[in-house]
Amino acid sequence: MLDYYNNIVILTGAGLSAESGLSTFRDKDGVWTRHDLAEVATPEGFARNPDMVQDFYNARRKQVVEAKPNAAHKALARLEKKHPGEVLTVTQNVDVLHEAAGTAKLIHMHGQLDQALCTHCDARHGWSDDITTATPCPGCGECAGMRPDVVWFGEMPYQMDDIYEALSRCDLFISIGTSGSVYPAAGFVMEAKRARARTVELNLEPSEGASLFTESIRGPATEVVPQYVERLLSA
Ligand code: OAD
Repeated sequence: MLDYYNNIVILTGAGLSAESGLSTFRDKDGVWTRHDLAEVATPEGFARNPDMVQDFYNARRKQVVEAKPNAAHKALARLEKKHPGEVLTVTQNVDVLHEAAGTAKLIHMHGQLDQALCTHCDARHGWSDDITTATPCPGCGECAGMRPDVVWFGEMPYQMDDIYEALSRCDLFISIGTSGSVYPAAGFVMEAKRARARTVELNLEPSEGASLFTESIRGPATEVVPQYVERLLSA
């Protein structure tokens, strides 16, 4: 039997979607073993070679559109629905599998691939097709200004004030499927500890910050997440 926790913040990373067929970044055969991060995930890389960057995200958008949520996404949606207290899910993932599973209170801190951002008028538009350097903005009509609505290295992740506010009030912080190597997300565990929250990591292998967590549970997300959610809901 677990203690009851009222305010829960969940941080998810690429490991959560690995069993939906989407590659992680830093594992063997991960995205960053095949592509140069500096060339495809920075504003400088985009300025140097916009076509290559658009092609990279166009290919990833196709995979994301076809992917289906797995048992771990579904278990987290069930937790949000059944838990009597607050649950905020913060994802670093640019796929849309949390919402496909039914999670409603969700922050995409690194953006989402099913949206395009116009660099002329700052409008966001739902997007399922390719984006090219000549794609006009459906809002302002300007060409050559559309980009994937994802956060690149060197850019500020989205909704950080909302995330830190939730962390300051949480009494359980759960980190799932992330290597803990990218800040600011990697620092959330420390914010949660400052709020005296219990901190739990569910991951295939120890993350970089594994020693900071009160409890660590190892295994594939589709196994350990549903089990952990059932434990929480029976507390
Ligand atoms: P990483 O690829 O860095 O880490 C994925 C983690 O998931 C690793 O610790 C794996 O052990 C774990 N993992 C793999 N398969 C798993 C499974 N089936 N079940 C549970 N865990 C599993 O991915 P992230 O931590 O999400 O940012 O990467 C963080 C950010 O770095 C991304 O959002 C992206 C990337 O560069 C940007 O592009 C801005």
